[in-house]
Amino acid sequence: MAQEMNRQVLLASTPDGMPAEGHFTVAESAIAPPKDGEILCRNLFLSLDPYMRSQIAGRHMSGSTAPGDVLKGETIAEIVESKHPDFKTGDKVIVPGGWQTHTTLVPQPDAPPPMATRRLNPAVYPMSLALGALGMPGLTAYAGLKHLGQPKAGDVVVVSAASGAVGSMVGQFAKSLGCKVIGIAGSPDKCKWLTDTAGFDGCINYKDEAVADGLDRLCPKGVDIYFDNVGGEILDAVSWRLAIGARVILCGLISKVNSSEPVVGPSPGAFIKARATVRGLVVYDFWDQMDEMAETFMKLIEAGKMHFLEDVSDGIEEAPAAFVRLMNGQNHGKTIIKLL
Ligand SMILES: NC(=O)c1ccc[n+]([C@@H]2O[C@H](COP(=O)([O-])OP(=O)(O)OC[C@H]3O[C@@H](n4cnc5c(N)ncnc54)[C@H](OP(=O)(O)O)[C@@H]3O)[C@@H](O)[C@H]2O)c1
Repeated sequence: MAQEMNRQVLLASTPDGMPAEGHFTVAESAIAPPKDGEILCRNLFLSLDPYMRSQIAGRHMSGSTAPGDVLKGETIAEIVESKHPDFKTGDKVIVPGGWQTHTTLVPQPDAPPPMATRRLNPAVYPMSLALGALGMPGLTAYAGLKHLGQPKAGDVVVVSAASGAVGSMVGQFAKSLGCKVIGIAGSPDKCKWLTDTAGFDGCINYKDEAVADGLDRLCPKGVDIYFDNVGGEILDAVSWRLAIGARVILCGLISKVNSSEPVVGPSPGAFIKARATVRGLVVYDFWDQMDEMAETFMKLIEAGKMHFLEDVSDGIEEAPAAFVRLMNGQNHGKTIIKLL
């Protein structure tokens, strides 16, 4: 019988600008049996996230990925062999498993995220949500809005990349707290889902309408909280429409992540004029609130007050194409690779 192999996606070359499938290559290697203290994991789901582009560019706080390396990423995995006293065969865990079908590692529950090994919360269903709405992106939305945004009922909340894993949770969490929520997204379908299913009060399709005009139409009294996932021109446009005392959460820079040009703007004058508080968000600072977030969001999901979208591809070979789609904004919902 043929021996089962570990199928992996490696970075073939570093893209200059937008990545293409040719920057990745699929390889096979022998599955490494665990040594003392290690576990052998079969990865069930792999999360693809925008920060991987910054790792490839060598400018992310969680480490870099060079040509020849297996791409990094969080996976939900089942332990198929354990030589660690605290973990047994059959346990389900969330590990830094990478873009591959099997991972052998020393589980490190106390390592800083995203290197930590966590047990899968059995209440999370479907399981893949532990990588999206009820995982790292969900926590980013929860902690960023709650702690940095300090929302109160009646606030006008604007969120960009609104249909994405983070943005869709930000908006729905804000709605559950009584805020008025306006999303910014890049297609009519995404905007329709946000208003018709996710309950947003409005949506600006930034590919169809100037963001400034959309904000004047939908937020005539200004923006109390801006949760920024994109940077660049959209951040600039929202900045100039901040209400007095606004809070701005700087979460991500996806509009600039494929550019090697230095990032310019927005003007500090916009924040001065609004007496705004601008906060940078690092989800890892709030890692201990993962269960609290999952419990809060699960209740909202069960009550039909929060919805999630997953953009699922089947098989590790599909990871490069799915990542290229994500970088081009063609994903609709949290990008997941199913390896089951
Ligand atoms: N600070 C933290 O700790 C932390 C943690 C997690 C994530 N993040 C950041 O949060 C942001 C969202 O992450 P996510 O996981 O929600 O992403 P996601 O689900 O993969 O969604 C990304 C979305 O961004 C939009 N986008 C892509 N290029 C864009 C552009 N040039 N201008 C405007 N929008 C663009 C696309 O939708 P459209 O069709 O709408 O353009 C795309 O679907 C990213 O910037 C990520 O790096 C930060």
